[in-house]
Amino acid sequence: MLSAVPRPVIVRAPSKVNLHLAVGDLRDDGYHELTSVYQALSLHDDVEVRDSDELSVAVQGESARVVPTDRRNLVWQAAELLAERAGRDPRVAISIAKGIPVAGGMAGGSADAAAALVALDELWQLGLDRADLDEFAARLGSDVPFSLRGGTAIGTGRGEKLLPVLSRNSFHWVLALAKGGLRTPDVFRELDRLRSEGEPPRLGAADELMHALAVGDPHQLAPLLGNDLQPAALSLKPELRRTLRAGTAAGALAGIVSGSGPTCAFLCADADAAVAVGAELAGAGVCRTVRTAHGPVPGARVIDDKTER
Ligand code: C5P
Repeated sequence: MLSAVPRPVIVRAPSKVNLHLAVGDLRDDGYHELTSVYQALSLHDDVEVRDSDELSVAVQGESARVVPTDRRNLVWQAAELLAERAGRDPRVAISIAKGIPVAGGMAGGSADAAAALVALDELWQLGLDRADLDEFAARLGSDVPFSLRGGTAIGTGRGEKLLPVLSRNSFHWVLALAKGGLRTPDVFRELDRLRSEGEPPRLGAADELMHALAVGDPHQLAPLLGNDLQPAALSLKPELRRTLRAGTAAGALAGIVSGSGPTCAFLCADADAAVAVGAELAGAGVCRTVRTAHGPVPGARVIDDKTER
């Protein structure tokens, strides 16, 4: 006899790097007006949901022990939101396999939230359309809509209003994961403090960068990468300066702090160069660990099993 219990659903969601992160002024609602060009990277989390007697969250993998497993976790909030919408109880066991660094500036929590939305839509057969999912995503966090969408996109507002960006070819990255994380609100606050004391540089328009993406040339893209949050992340974690120097000394085309940090992302000429830069950085003692990744990759999507590539 066929079981009435639905099969578990597994969803893979990408990390991201901000190729261009221009931070505008602080708004009355506590957020900053942003222009952000996001690229989704192959370093990912997998989120599995299955029917259960009660809502629970379990986490394995990269820095799992520091991830909350209660309502503070965005996947918990995603389950409550969708259950309310569906008029049912959120009785689901959610299991997160983390590959994305925690509090690393790579949208790990947002990836999990986006994955949970897609997975629960499938498990509970809600039939949500893109607009519904986008709206739930934006309620959960500024980067969650991008984690849903993936690819390369430009975000405005809090970062949640997205338009796709034409991007040719794959780009190859080395990611230097730091010891300890940075809290995003702390980094934005530090930027406000630095701006109240002086004039840290502000990025201009992203037009040239968008052109380099359309051409698909990493050499053209490298000098155009920029992040207004970088001075704030460096102010809170000065040791990242050494990491950034070591990456370019190892042969990367450019290095930036990813989002609010402290992960540093190094753009490399090709996949072989990324492996070589990664090996040299790993031996330089300037970070906790090193990963290679490529982008752009798709947003949160159902996979058959975790061995799928
Ligand atoms: O949207 P999310 O909850 O992920 O944002 C986390 C924090 O990052 C916000 O509470 C705010 O301090 C900061 N933030 C910001 N401006 C944005 C996005 C995030 O100041 N556009």
